Amino acid sequence: MNVPDAMLAIEITQAGGPDVLAPCSVPVPLPGHGQILIRVAYAGVNRPDALQRSGAYNPPPNASPLPGLEASGHVAAVGSGVTRWKVGDAVCALLPGGGYAEYALTAADHALPIPEGMSLREAACLPETCFTVWSNMVMRGGLKAGERFLVHGGTSGIGTTAIQIAKALGARVFATAGSDKKCSICTELGAEQAINYQEGDFAAAMKSVGGADLILDMVGGPYLPRNVRSLADDGRLVQIAFLSGAKVELNFAEVMMRRLTITGSTLRPQSDLAKARIAAKVEQHVWPMIARGAFKPVMDSEYPLDQAPAAHWRIEAPGHIGKIVLKVAP
Ligand SMILES: NC(=O)c1ccc[n+]([C@@H]2O[C@H](COP(=O)([O-])OP(=O)(O)OC[C@H]3O[C@@H](n4cnc5c(N)ncnc54)[C@H](OP(=O)(O)O)[C@@H]3O)[C@@H](O)[C@H]2O)c1
Repeated sequence: MNVPDAMLAIEITQAGGPDVLAPCSVPVPLPGHGQILIRVAYAGVNRPDALQRSGAYNPPPNASPLPGLEASGHVAAVGSGVTRWKVGDAVCALLPGGGYAEYALTAADHALPIPEGMSLREAACLPETCFTVWSNMVMRGGLKAGERFLVHGGTSGIGTTAIQIAKALGARVFATAGSDKKCSICTELGAEQAINYQEGDFAAAMKSVGGADLILDMVGGPYLPRNVRSLADDGRLVQIAFLSGAKVELNFAEVMMRRLTITGSTLRPQSDLAKARIAAKVEQHVWPMIARGAFKPVMDSEYPLDQAPAAHWRIEAPGHIGKIVLKVAP
């Protein structure tokens, strides 16, 4: 594959709203030891990209300053020590950054094969959400078959993924969302009950079924004490974001008396080794779910790369359901 010296990318010109995203020409990066260079077909758009754009989520050291945490495409070059991939292989991959570009670098063991029968468009939406959901819901949260699992933001990229994977694991799934239409989608995806938080009290709903064994939450703020109330004794709360604020007053006596666990994590700053371990687990457990039709990404919309600002307006508005992608060079 002929790799040019320069490529089209989308840069964050300054911290701010979606219109600070602008096309630029930058050098194509070269793969170092253990890395691959991907000719990007599609790049997934995630809420953390919007956080980075607004100045609230800086890339880790040595990561590309360009936005974009996941992509699909074909291997364009391999660095020394890479044995699994060769030029031309179709892959989808978790990226440390830099997905909004014609070429992107990542560690070879953060890439996975395109699942059988899946398009590059859909596959671009898998890594960031699958890695986040599996590592928090299963590796950290310990979800098991038969447990009651509650996920907030049920129609988000994360929520639609968590509902399907939890259901495939044999859990009883509950979700919250901000409209009746969104709640219907959650139940179609496998939730036993979806609570419209504009109208109903999710803590009361969870108490009426015995409490949640595990909650995956991205909202935080006023949800924290309500999540604690929603948990069954010995229940676990895994926090993956704080869309409504990270500071809150909480009575920890209930945490102690009912033996609750409150934890959380964020994927991007973790070590390459930790991400490679998550990749291996995702390939081992989630790829077979895709193969047997138990999980597929819910697609909201697609924009050309140079319309990245429109994609960001869309992800920050309440209307979208599932994943948004940028079409780069399919
Ligand atoms: N920890 C990690 O490693 C990690 C990795 C990836 C993503 N995340 C986080 O997970 C969350 C979901 O990511 P995503 O890419 O799937 O995003 P997304 O599709 O934009 O979803 C955000 C969802 O949050 C719901 N929501 C509830 N309260 C909200 C509020 N106060 N403001 C805005 N939205 C609110 C919205 O649904 P309703 O309209 O139904 O409320 C929406 O579905 C984000 O917060 C993201 O930062 C964390």
